[in-house]
Amino acid sequence: MDRQTLRLALIPGDGVGPEVVAATVPVLEAALTVQGVALDLLELDWGGERFLRDGAAMPVDAADIVRGTDAVLFGAVGRPDVPDHELVWGLIIGLRQQLDLAVNIRPVRSFPGVPTQVRDTDGVDLLIVRENTEGEYVGAGGLAHAGTGADVGIEVAVHSRPVIERAAHHAFRLARQRSGRLALVTKSNAMRHGYPLWDRTVREVAEQYDDVELEVVLVDAMAARMIQSPRSLDVLLAGNLFGDILSDLAAVLAGGMGMAPSANIRPGGDVPGIFEPVHGSAPAIAGRGVANPAACLLSGALLLEDTGHAAAAAAVRDALAAALLDPAHHTPDLGGVATTADVSAAVLEEMENLR
Ligand SMILES: NC(=O)c1ccc[n+]([C@@H]2O[C@H](COP(=O)([O-])OP(=O)(O)OC[C@H]3O[C@@H](n4cnc5c(N)ncnc54)[C@H](O)[C@@H]3O)[C@@H](O)[C@H]2O)c1
Repeated sequence: MDRQTLRLALIPGDGVGPEVVAATVPVLEAALTVQGVALDLLELDWGGERFLRDGAAMPVDAADIVRGTDAVLFGAVGRPDVPDHELVWGLIIGLRQQLDLAVNIRPVRSFPGVPTQVRDTDGVDLLIVRENTEGEYVGAGGLAHAGTGADVGIEVAVHSRPVIERAAHHAFRLARQRSGRLALVTKSNAMRHGYPLWDRTVREVAEQYDDVELEVVLVDAMAARMIQSPRSLDVLLAGNLFGDILSDLAAVLAGGMGMAPSANIRPGGDVPGIFEPVHGSAPAIAGRGVANPAACLLSGALLLEDTGHAAAAAAVRDALAAALLDPAHHTPDLGGVATTADVSAAVLEEMENLR
């Protein structure tokens, strides 16, 4: 990669996606400029509008287009007049699979000054590593007896050892860099095949990381523990479905969906990652300029880190943390009255102050 230019594909998408991406790009640009790095933007109109116009949310060569860049910043997809699966599968899940972006990293960190609906979340700092290509979201199954009134929906979960292993290795490496604690989340008491394979495989991988302490927790127990004692957790490893659900739950500990970033990456691979807020297109608040851009800004920070710009990533995070200390910079989801643009401007100002 040319260290002096970051080639960034933007997929703003639908609803609040374009609003939070527009609030994030100037912040990333400012953080990179300080480091002497230019931003080369490729804006892609993929999403719901394109689907309505062309019958597809993205072009057939979408994965090749993305491969020509260093990273992707993605907003969200989903609009009320298009069936959800057309856009979620036709874009983000499709791209994750085509690029074989093996893991979805979802950090959850409480920011001082940000109110939460759960008591006592100070110091929460956990990281969910979600397997991103298989499990319940692999897309295998079908609809039998369709339209007869006796329709049968069949959704097959797929869990394969090499895919579990590569997610596990990444989770162990991250746990090693953090507190040395890793919790594997499965449901091996009620599900007899896929999740016991996860347990066996991850325990085998654990033998290569004797400096990491592994515990295996059932997903229902984990849901309760995440609320009752979130500071007892550090890195969590989960399959596609449980990782998806638990990360929305964990987001509440940090102030809600507007605060939760994510990264889709292939560890050690040379494909660009896709960085996106965990939230969707939030149609109820779209178009009003009040979406919280923090999740997208934090996704941008993950993107900068992954592409080798750690100092710029830290500058974005520190400036956001400083801005959020002041309730005047809280959007309505955090109980404030700030607009998306206000938060972006405040982060830019803090970045200047902290230099
Ligand atoms: N990766 C994705 O693109 C993705 C992820 C989830 C949902 N979706 C799609 O988004 C659409 C809406 O789905 P949903 O309502 O279940 O989830 P959502 O994340 O869009 O919204 C859930 C709740 O969080 C709020 N919210 C979300 N983002 C926010 C932000 N930045 N600031 C403030 N509040 C925010 C919303 O107003 C809503 O109350 C659907 O079409 C769904 O398929 C897309």
